[in-house]
Amino acid sequence: MNMHKYEKWWLLFGSGTLLIFLIVVGISAFYMGSKPPSCAVTLDPESVRDTAPFDEPGLKQIGDNEYTLTIVASAFDYDVGNPEKVVEIPKGSIVHVSSTTTDVIHGFEIAGTNVNMMLEPGYVSTYTNTFKNAGTYTLVCNEYCGVGHHLMAATIEVVEE
Ligand code: CUA
Repeated sequence: MNMHKYEKWWLLFGSGTLLIFLIVVGISAFYMGSKPPSCAVTLDPESVRDTAPFDEPGLKQIGDNEYTLTIVASAFDYDVGNPEKVVEIPKGSIVHVSSTTTDVIHGFEIAGTNVNMMLEPGYVSTYTNTFKNAGTYTLVCNEYCGVGHHLMAATIEVVEE
């Protein structure tokens, strides 16, 4: 087979970049342990409200500077443990967020932070975030879930201690 010189270079370049890509992904996944927000934990979507920790949504202190934040999503609401839909988090704290949905797929994005997950029925989505800056953040649904999608929100207040 006769191949043009440029064709060979191009093939070499193509397979080279593919190889580099696979090596980078491989090292970050298997050596450095990078992974997308976990959803490896499952539960029965029919009995979310009776399953810990979702039977008691809200912020709970578990350490000096460490909290768990449990939120139950449903069309078209985030249950954060109080009717005002406001969570107050002390600035600088480490928060282990875990959330799930009782019905359809919802989004879970705390705008202005790295917290951005998809909530799927039957799965628990978790993310750990350190809230370094004080301010008011909005938790929004960023997956279209029905007629009330645009109303689905809650407020995260990161406050100075
Ligand atoms: Cu929930 Cu969109």
